[in-house]
Amino acid sequence: MKYLKLLSVVLLSFVGCDDDQKEEIPVFEIGLEQPINFPAPTYDINDNPIDAAGFELGRKLFYDVKLSDGNTISCAECHNQAFAFTHHGHDLSEGVLVDQLGVRNSQPIQNLAFMNAFTWDGSVELLWRQPVVPITEKVEMNETLENVINKLKQDANYPTKFETAFGGEDAVNPVNMLKALAQFMGAMVSSNSKYDKYVRGEVGGDFSDEEKEGMRLFENKCASCHSGELFTNQEFVNNGIGVNSKLPNELGRARISASNPDLTIEEGKAHPDYYKFKVPSLRNVEKTFPYMHDGRIVLLKQVLDFYDTDTYPYIQKMDNLDVRLIQTIDEKEVLGIPMTEEEKESIILFLETLTDDEFLNDTRFAKP
Ligand code: HEC
Ligand code: HEC
Repeated sequence: MKYLKLLSVVLLSFVGCDDDQKEEIPVFEIGLEQPINFPAPTYDINDNPIDAAGFELGRKLFYDVKLSDGNTISCAECHNQAFAFTHHGHDLSEGVLVDQLGVRNSQPIQNLAFMNAFTWDGSVELLWRQPVVPITEKVEMNETLENVINKLKQDANYPTKFETAFGGEDAVNPVNMLKALAQFMGAMVSSNSKYDKYVRGEVGGDFSDEEKEGMRLFENKCASCHSGELFTNQEFVNNGIGVNSKLPNELGRARISASNPDLTIEEGKAHPDYYKFKVPSLRNVEKTFPYMHDGRIVLLKQVLDFYDTDTYPYIQKMDNLDVRLIQTIDEKEVLGIPMTEEEKESIILFLETLTDDEFLNDTRFAKP
């Protein structure tokens, strides 16, 4: 928790300051130490150290509509703090063009400093490169990096903020903008849920018997994929969600791992990574609905029904369906995970302990 505490101390020094005073704050170097129950961070702290000035600049950018065509939407439009930075109520996200939907469900922005790859298919491996996609995608912000930089250069506040954060001539440039966003997102750590307090033996971490039972069931039935403190093994897996007929071009991880980037749908379907998606973290999962890469499942109960063997055939058989979802019961092949209704209820109660109200209401991550 050292890192988080340190971060709070540094950032709390902003509270109550007005814009002019912020510029005077010296640059702090904040180490990226993991909360005591977390794995080591993947964030390259030497390449892009998280400091107060960079973090504050990243936060301002994250909430700024200037990053989009016609100054219409900000990153926060699809990444709303109250819902763990997802797009509440949207299965697929609408960007600046009202009549055009994206093809994927918006992902939460949390604990990204501990992840190996980003987006549902892992197309981006460095956090600071990720924002290029939403800024330039037609169905998202539909803007060019060049236009964004020009808008920021003409702004009354940004040039000083960029110079304070990065120094040097010509500080308002695309790399610095992306690095500031990465500093902000890298510091967004959710590690204070009831579950965390339970495992760390802290105040507020008392589990009921049913929550304990839910955790035991989760460990047996779900944690082979949603493993560890991040609740993801970060693998790309076909969990049997089945092809969405409205989005026939979706290839999942095959699009990334195929040697030919322009592979056809037929070639994609034959690829061993067809319809594999990154195992999502389940932290704050109570808030991140709708679920799955295309947001096709609305309620947690429906997710449990999807996995349950008895509600078969929800899980769709494909050649590369993960073996952890294929059981042999009475010598017959059964798809899914066996669960009673009572067990599903306990698992849901456990999943709700992953809600981190401190993170969801943390003013450091709110609109500046
Ligand atoms: C129009 C909605 C929309 C906007 C605006 C948007 N995003 Fe996203 N974001 C998404 C969707 C959808 C995904 C999942 C993309 C995929 O899998 O292809 C995503 C994924 C991400 C991820 C990957 C998270 C992970 O766990 O791998 C990051 C980081 C991210 N967005 C940051 C940003 C930033 C920074 C901005 C602003 C510059 C932004 N987004 C603007 C919808 C949006
Ligand atoms: C074989 C690996 C595997 C197992 C076992 C597994 N999952 Fe998943 N889970 C995945 C993958 C992969 C996805 C994403 C699939 C997609 O988006 O199309 C996912 C998605 C989810 C989601 C949606 C999260 C979101 O943000 O959209 C929830 C909730 C979930 N799983 C809960 C569970 C529960 C509860 C169990 C145990 C009953 C379980 N999973 C077992 C691999 C697995």
